[in-house]
Amino acid sequence: MAGALKVSVWRGGADGALRAFEVPRHASQTVLDVVTYIQRKLDPTLAYRYACRVGMCGSCAMTVNGVPRWTCRTHVDKVVRNDELQIGPLKNLPVIRDLVTDMREFFDKWARAKGELVPSATRHDDFARVPPASRGRQLADAAVECIGCGVCYSSCDVVSWNPDYLGPAALNRAWTLVNDVRDTGNRARLKAVAGDAGCHACHTHMSCTERCPKQLAPTASIAGLKRAAALAALKGEF
Ligand code: SF4
Ligand code: SF4
Ligand code: FES
Repeated sequence: MAGALKVSVWRGGADGALRAFEVPRHASQTVLDVVTYIQRKLDPTLAYRYACRVGMCGSCAMTVNGVPRWTCRTHVDKVVRNDELQIGPLKNLPVIRDLVTDMREFFDKWARAKGELVPSATRHDDFARVPPASRGRQLADAAVECIGCGVCYSSCDVVSWNPDYLGPAALNRAWTLVNDVRDTGNRARLKAVAGDAGCHACHTHMSCTERCPKQLAPTASIAGLKRAAALAALKGEF
């Protein structure tokens, strides 16, 4: 495939600006290939982040023509407009430099949502046997494949309006644990996600579910948390 792409790339911090590059176009080219070409051939000072290149590590997410995406699995052909690409850092997160955002507040919110397993067994116990057909297992399985890419968080208007909001990824993680029969931390977890900045702040806009590259549905997880938190409140567990 001949021709060239006109690529505008964010340079600098929050007060930075777009800078134009021209990149040769080829078949099966991904957006991450384009960014890597710029960094290797045109401007070695360009900062960006990636690791696996196969959609597993979640580190390569950027805003491409206005939409947050995992760049290693996004083909240029799918997103290019008039041979032009605009590539910037993820929204809703502080920009460190160029295409690199500071993910600390994103993962701090996983901790605030009590996103770690509180085991009921010790290492001396036998493995837990959780039947694949059980309801809890199926609900947990449906939400568990999150790679922590931040695409949903960057898509969420409520995070933009209220930076304290826990956001779709942390709440989705909390929901997997609410359904994990090995876990004993649900009372504290549901209390943590029921506050003003938790699940009840979600306006069900669905952007997270539309954009998640792993086809997860954080909106459904958050709806489950709303029901579970309301039930816990009715039972006087908070
Ligand atoms: S459904 Fe909720 S969490 Fe998802 S993008 Fe919309 S407001 Fe944010
Ligand atoms: S829920 Fe989806 S979009 Fe959000 S961090 Fe996990 S994999 Fe990424
Ligand atoms: S580089 Fe790992 S998901 Fe894209």
